[in-house]
Amino acid sequence: MNSANPSFQIAPASLSDLNALRELDRICFEQDQWPLIELIAVLALPGIIRLKAEVEGKMAGFIGGDTHRTEGVGWVTTIGVLPEYRRQGIARALMLAGDEAMGQPVIRLSVRRSNYSAQRLYSSLGYHYAEVWHRYYVDGEDGLVMEKNNLKND
Ligand SMILES: CC(C)(COP(=O)(O)OP(=O)(O)OC[C@H]1O[C@@H](n2cnc3c(N)ncnc32)[C@H](O)[C@@H]1OP(=O)(O)O)[C@@H](O)C(=O)NCCC(=O)NCCS
Repeated sequence: MNSANPSFQIAPASLSDLNALRELDRICFEQDQWPLIELIAVLALPGIIRLKAEVEGKMAGFIGGDTHRTEGVGWVTTIGVLPEYRRQGIARALMLAGDEAMGQPVIRLSVRRSNYSAQRLYSSLGYHYAEVWHRYYVDGEDGLVMEKNNLKND
């Protein structure tokens, strides 16, 4: 990480982070905001991993992952970093910590076709394109499913 930037810590998140997560979700996902019930679920349901990145006690980033959706596959269901904390390696660190916490042989996620910055992040972590979900997002944009196989050394 750039030493000019404040350092961050990764820690488990909980329901007490609901307000901060709501704000982060609103800012990071203009078109794809989650309803309140989904935000509560990601912070509280079993079988879900939830990690936050904090800078000076403030939530700067968040990752949620689901280990129950598909056998042997962990799904990254959300990852976001507040704009003022981007390009400091926070999402990369959250992805690595989330992967470890899910502990699954395969990790998958979906990303908007136009979201090049996120796709670059995932490619740099060893994810490859696995599937297209046509018109998956609310405005009809395709979702690209990207996948990482933790059992391979590629
Ligand atoms: C995508 C997102 C999570 C990246 O967060 P971040 O903390 O800035 O990412 P990192 O600093 O860890 O970046 C790691 C690498 O990803 C790639 N990357 C990240 N943002 C990028 C951008 N805007 N342009 C090009 N590459 C980018 C780069 O390879 C980067 O490494 P580098 O900085 O050494 O070049 C963040 O931009 C975000 O929250 N976007 C809005 C929400 C979103 O799109 N989430 C993903 C939904 S699928």
